[in-house]
Amino acid sequence: MSETFYVTTPIYYVNDIPHIGHAYTTLLADVLARYHRLLGHDTWFLTGADEHGQKVQDAARERGISEQEHVDETVLRFKELWERLEITNNDFIRTTEERHKVIVQEVLQDLYDRDEIYKANYNGWYDVKSETYITEKDLPENFEELAHIKRIEESNYFFRMGKYRDWLIEYIEEHPEFIQPDFRRNETLGFLKQELGDLCISRPKSRLTWGIDLPFDEEYVTYVWFDALVNYISAVGYRRDDEQFNKWWPANYHLIGKDILTTHTVYWPTMLKAMGVPLPKTIFAHGWWLAGKEKMSKSEGNAINPMDYLSAFGVDASRYYLMAEMTLGQDASFTHEKFIQRYNSDLANDLGNMSSRVLKMIDSNCGGRMAEPGPDPLAGEDERTLWDTAQAAVVEMEKSIHNMRLDLGIAATMNVVRACNRYFDKRQPWKQAKDDDKTPLNLTIYVSAEVLRVVSALLYPVMPEKMSALRIALGLHGGEPQVNDVQKFGVLQPGCLMGNYGALFPRHKEDPPSQGQKPEVPEGVIDADTIEFDDFAKVKFRTAEVLEAEAIEGSDKLLKIQIQVGQEKRQVVSGIAKFYSPQEIVGKQVVLVANLAPRKVFGVESNGMLLAATKGKRLRLITVDGELNSGAKVS
Ligand code: MSP
Repeated sequence: MSETFYVTTPIYYVNDIPHIGHAYTTLLADVLARYHRLLGHDTWFLTGADEHGQKVQDAARERGISEQEHVDETVLRFKELWERLEITNNDFIRTTEERHKVIVQEVLQDLYDRDEIYKANYNGWYDVKSETYITEKDLPENFEELAHIKRIEESNYFFRMGKYRDWLIEYIEEHPEFIQPDFRRNETLGFLKQELGDLCISRPKSRLTWGIDLPFDEEYVTYVWFDALVNYISAVGYRRDDEQFNKWWPANYHLIGKDILTTHTVYWPTMLKAMGVPLPKTIFAHGWWLAGKEKMSKSEGNAINPMDYLSAFGVDASRYYLMAEMTLGQDASFTHEKFIQRYNSDLANDLGNMSSRVLKMIDSNCGGRMAEPGPDPLAGEDERTLWDTAQAAVVEMEKSIHNMRLDLGIAATMNVVRACNRYFDKRQPWKQAKDDDKTPLNLTIYVSAEVLRVVSALLYPVMPEKMSALRIALGLHGGEPQVNDVQKFGVLQPGCLMGNYGALFPRHKEDPPSQGQKPEVPEGVIDADTIEFDDFAKVKFRTAEVLEAEAIEGSDKLLKIQIQVGQEKRQVVSGIAKFYSPQEIVGKQVVLVANLAPRKVFGVESNGMLLAATKGKRLRLITVDGELNSGAKVS
């Protein structure tokens, strides 16, 4: 029987608009799942949505629709993103599905029957925002000013979590692989040094109705985390299908972000222990994606929308950047500059260039058919060294998957690409092509093509579309690598016809994709979404006079513009360079969105945005009709 591999992501709060941080956990799981499939492992990849709780109830009520209608709509944002990102999950679980709810209720009933859950009074502090009870010592200093922190007194149900503390400490100490990376294990052990209380697992319906009913008391619903964590087992047949459950459980990896460490490494293992279910093998907490140096969040307005990058650079380049840039476990910073830099150096220059050199050589010198390398192609020192470098990357990649250091496996593979480029330069096939004896030329082409084939297989889980295109161009049918063919030399058949090819990664000199790019709405049609007047009133428009303007080096779209807004001088960056020269706009009275949070565009600070009208390929600035001082209100 082949080895099994079961990987999960957290299930996402459907109320949120997915950003790069969310996309990352799912992408990481996808890349791991794809590697394991290539290693021949029977793989199951689960993701899903966390759909109960206060925020969903509030949002649905505000919209005047039912909670179910609300989540049925919002869950699509995640499902669509996973499709765009080419995520190969085997299942998508929603906590509002019957298959999940019944299992949560059975677990609760069983724990209640065995006195693992009891009822008690709670008199203390409650954080409405995070839906958690807080102890005196965890109260923020200014809690009296915070409307979301309330004193409450109510009866609730509690899970006897505290009694498992010593057991859990011992388990973690005896199983170093259980919490990864190591410093996260220490974090959990540090947390467990303090006394561990029991966990309140209910919410009274007087406050919250949108949850799973407690089976033994209809006045209460289940606390969201007690509901959500169960997804990892309800989705694979727990209490329903023993064969399926025993096949996949215990999971190999629960991938999580560092912010949900305690719920996964304290609540979840104690819940499983009480249920009598073995623990997952590894809980791996990755770091955070920061927007530059700042925490990324919807409320900060700096969340990076993956759709913007997918539209501008394609799915593979986006997947590559996220996988190559983050050292697993650490935080990583997402900036447009770094994205472009990595794209151009790794993908356009190294990999794209190498591929097109080899493919063009086959096309123009071998009539579009794979070269015949002659006997013993790896006898020469250069060929052997290059192939050994490729094999070292195969080993490194497998190691990096097991050690959760994908960035290292990717770096080793890019090293092979660069070695192959150097080999090409040294052999100078364009000169070899002029010789009557074509043997050296054919050898150069064949060995490079074989190395490229190995590279395409190693990077396939990260960039499935482009690597599959490359493999087809090399004459491999189907595009998908076969299990374990990376170790073999000579898979490409001499004489076989190569497929179509084009530039894999054209160089980019692009400006950042505009935030929140939407699918195109036909001209003349007004997008149907409406906003309330209060939302409109939040935007502060002001008139402004353009004082100076200049082009931004390296960008053909952007102008850096100095403006006067009443008493204040400001700098804005505007994407109008293709429509206005800098001189043309000096002196114009324009309209500014004055309260946009400052942001860097192409590395240049921008404080606000100039309004412009666009139609087709035309763009005109919105200007003021007649004399008016700058800084005037526009409404
Ligand atoms: N619903 C809970 C998880 C329940 S699992 C039984 C939840 N959802 S979430 O949508 O808020 O977050 C899901 C994941 O996204 C978490 O792993 C979180 O760490 C991750 N990220 C959210 N923002 C992030 C970054 N800026 N960077 C990286 N990942 C981050 O928590």
